[in-house]
Amino acid sequence: MIICRISSKIINLVLKFKDVIFIKPTHSILKTQLKMKSNIESKKIRIYGAGGHSKVISEVLEENGRQVVCAFEDKPKIKFKALEGVITSKENNSNKFSNSGEPVIIGIGKNTSRAKVANSLACDYGKVFHKTSYIAKSVKIGKGTVVFAGAIIQPNAVVGDHVIINTAASIDHDCVIGDFVHISPKATLCGQVEIGEGSHIGAGAVIIQTIKVGKWCTVGAGAVILKDIPDFSTVVGNPGRIIKTDASEDIKKLTNNLLYDTPLELNM
Ligand SMILES: CC(C)(COP(=O)(O)OP(=O)(O)OC[C@H]1O[C@@H](n2cnc3c(N)ncnc32)[C@H](O)[C@@H]1OP(=O)(O)O)[C@@H](O)C(=O)NCCC(=O)NCCS
Repeated sequence: MIICRISSKIINLVLKFKDVIFIKPTHSILKTQLKMKSNIESKKIRIYGAGGHSKVISEVLEENGRQVVCAFEDKPKIKFKALEGVITSKENNSNKFSNSGEPVIIGIGKNTSRAKVANSLACDYGKVFHKTSYIAKSVKIGKGTVVFAGAIIQPNAVVGDHVIINTAASIDHDCVIGDFVHISPKATLCGQVEIGEGSHIGAGAVIIQTIKVGKWCTVGAGAVILKDIPDFSTVVGNPGRIIKTDASEDIKKLTNNLLYDTPLELNM
């Protein structure tokens, strides 16, 4: 009887011990394995576009340990294929791009084309920052946005979706950058600058503090912008002068001659 009681206590103890030592760890190992699996899966990414810009993006992705599983080209002919294994076809094949699957980055440099593609897809988007870029902790960055080598984004800046912050661009504190903007190499945005949706800031341009650049504007390479710029304008030179005020056909098509509900309030 006594032996039985002792042995049943021992069995209970062993069972408790088993719970602690064997069952719990097995459970947590499984959890870790699942986490590792999902991490590996999320490393996979697709690029829409297969030209020069796509090539730069793929290098940044690969340096960051991401695996580019597909580069998709929607034109029957492209000037050059920057990537291996590009999916392309003889006719326009944009409808063959699947919305499901790995997250996507739209690797197209032209703002109107990038916006057009983004408007026609319904997939998950990734974002990627080159390891030599500096992005302050308080910065907010939208989906599909890429930040290239040596770029700097200072505190409280807000960067929209599908934006390109190109090589060595400098975005100072509290800047607000709209969707589909391209800030070209070595462009400098001083503090509290606002850049409207779709605008292209040329290489080496300087925009002084608190300036507002409208939507779908072009700022020429090397321009120095000292005054606000209305929507759809092209500005060149130092000091910047407006040389065009009309939207290009591309922009008109994209925005459907839309007058924005909330036009930019310019600093006067
Ligand atoms: C601003 C820009 C878009 C103008 O192109 P465009 O509309 O074809 O204009 P044009 O070439 O017809 O030039 C119109 C006038 O502006 C002048 N101009 C054009 N670009 C200029 C610039 N960057 N700086 C100073 N003047 C410029 C031209 O000399 C011309 O002057 P003129 O009428 O007295 O002869 C283009 O010149 C530019 O600077 N693009 C940015 C390129 C860039 O930074 N790319 C980065 C890719 S990563």
